[in-house]
Amino acid sequence: MKEDILSEIRDIKLIQGGMGVGVSNWKLARTVSSLDQLGVISGVALERVITRRLQEGDEIVREALLEFPDKELANFVTKNYFIEGGRKNKNLPYKSVPFPFLQIDKEKNITLKPTLEKLIAISVFTEVTLAKKGHDNPVGINLLYKLEWPMMASLYGALLAGVDAVLIGAGLPTTIPGVLDSLSKNEITTMKAKVGDGKDYQFLFNPSDILLNPPKLERPPFLAIINGHLAARGVKHADAYIVEGPKGGGHNGPARNKKLTELGEPDFGEKDDLNLEAFKDFLSFNSKERGKEIQPYWFAGDYAHRLEEALSDGAKGIQVGTPFALSKESGIHLPEKEKIIKKIMNEGIYVYTDPLASPSGYPFKVMQLDETMSNKKVYESRKRICNIGHLIDLFEIDGKVITRCPSEPLKHYERKGGKIENTLGKKCLCNGLMSTIGYGSPNEPPIYTSGKSHEVVKELAIRKGGIYSAKDVIDFILSN
Ligand SMILES: Cc1cc2nc3c(=O)[nH]c(=O)nc-3n(C[C@H](O)[C@H](O)[C@H](O)COP(=O)(O)O)c2cc1C
Repeated sequence: MKEDILSEIRDIKLIQGGMGVGVSNWKLARTVSSLDQLGVISGVALERVITRRLQEGDEIVREALLEFPDKELANFVTKNYFIEGGRKNKNLPYKSVPFPFLQIDKEKNITLKPTLEKLIAISVFTEVTLAKKGHDNPVGINLLYKLEWPMMASLYGALLAGVDAVLIGAGLPTTIPGVLDSLSKNEITTMKAKVGDGKDYQFLFNPSDILLNPPKLERPPFLAIINGHLAARGVKHADAYIVEGPKGGGHNGPARNKKLTELGEPDFGEKDDLNLEAFKDFLSFNSKERGKEIQPYWFAGDYAHRLEEALSDGAKGIQVGTPFALSKESGIHLPEKEKIIKKIMNEGIYVYTDPLASPSGYPFKVMQLDETMSNKKVYESRKRICNIGHLIDLFEIDGKVITRCPSEPLKHYERKGGKIENTLGKKCLCNGLMSTIGYGSPNEPPIYTSGKSHEVVKELAIRKGGIYSAKDVIDFILSN
């Protein structure tokens, strides 16, 4: 375990939230880490992001990719995807990446096709490698637990690049401490798989499928992203916690109250707030039981102007997303980002907590903007296809495992035993989020997520007369 790294991270007041897809890119993470805070890259769907950057002629990505220890694989990927000077016809779709067709054996082991598994590992390796260049400070990776199938290949790619911290939420990441222990020893590793109506399935990952002579790896600390003390109990072997409330950007935990508000949003109330006393009790109990120091924690979800409050509640600091998401360095396509900032400065943007949009089943915050997926007309004019498949769920039907996504074509969903009522209001986040970062397929409208509050974004934008940098965010937060 990178014990020294854990103690280094303990002193960090500001964690830059991992924001997928591609919003927390290496540029943002590198900048934040260089400035002595914790920069975090998003590991979500990186095989798409990296291969699309290569097709746009990204030389920096190509060079970092070629640092991968298996040169044959690195050359294969660059040969397949890199286009010198960038692709000429922007109206054509990008060259595809294998769809996640999973392989399942009689022992109920689920594996990925080797080409996809390798592509995920090398892509994550590349992004972490880039984020770590030019400074000696720690860099983290963020992944969504809901996305189980790419998990171990992603983590392994990150370990090969020497990632210093792993941050995972969106589900209760119970298996991750054990998975990290095992992967960092280069052992064949299994991870319990969620398969609807099925039992005893597991993902299986063999590091030697990626590299025959892997280097010695170090086990990074694991920071579990949770929404309260009950969730903390479920991941008691995490090395640290990020406690995120319902105002944060991206996905949120479900509200206790199942009724929606008048506006149709989840009705988050007092019961969804952190019970600080119960959380602290759990931490001291857990510390005694494990014979280890009390786990440090950070608060997230509209905390950019509340560092002092977090510190006085015993946190080491805060994790911040939205102000970084709209900073110059983030992956959001620059012209759109500038428009969004202007709109926030002039009239404001409503952020709707959509209880249905995400195929993951979790509430998802969506900025309400005319030319995006948040506009019903725009979304309905989109041809319904499923060609990325990151958010697929697994089900067992008649002894066979099938995958489906409630945003896929209705005919396919129904044929695979899905109920139409479960598709209502669902959006194709996979394609929408690729468009958000400027790497979308033709005719795929973007979708923008952010936290409920744009207070700090507005203040920074006013001070800077528009777009601001990640350094501006850090200076603002630390000086308040
Ligand atoms: C654009 C965007 C994308 C996000 N994507 C993820 C993600 O992929 N994984 C994750 O754990 N959190 C994600 N988040 C949450 C952030 O990491 C962070 O915890 C949260 O935004 C904090 O609240 P704030 O936005 O009010 O500062 C996302 C947030 C934003 C704004």
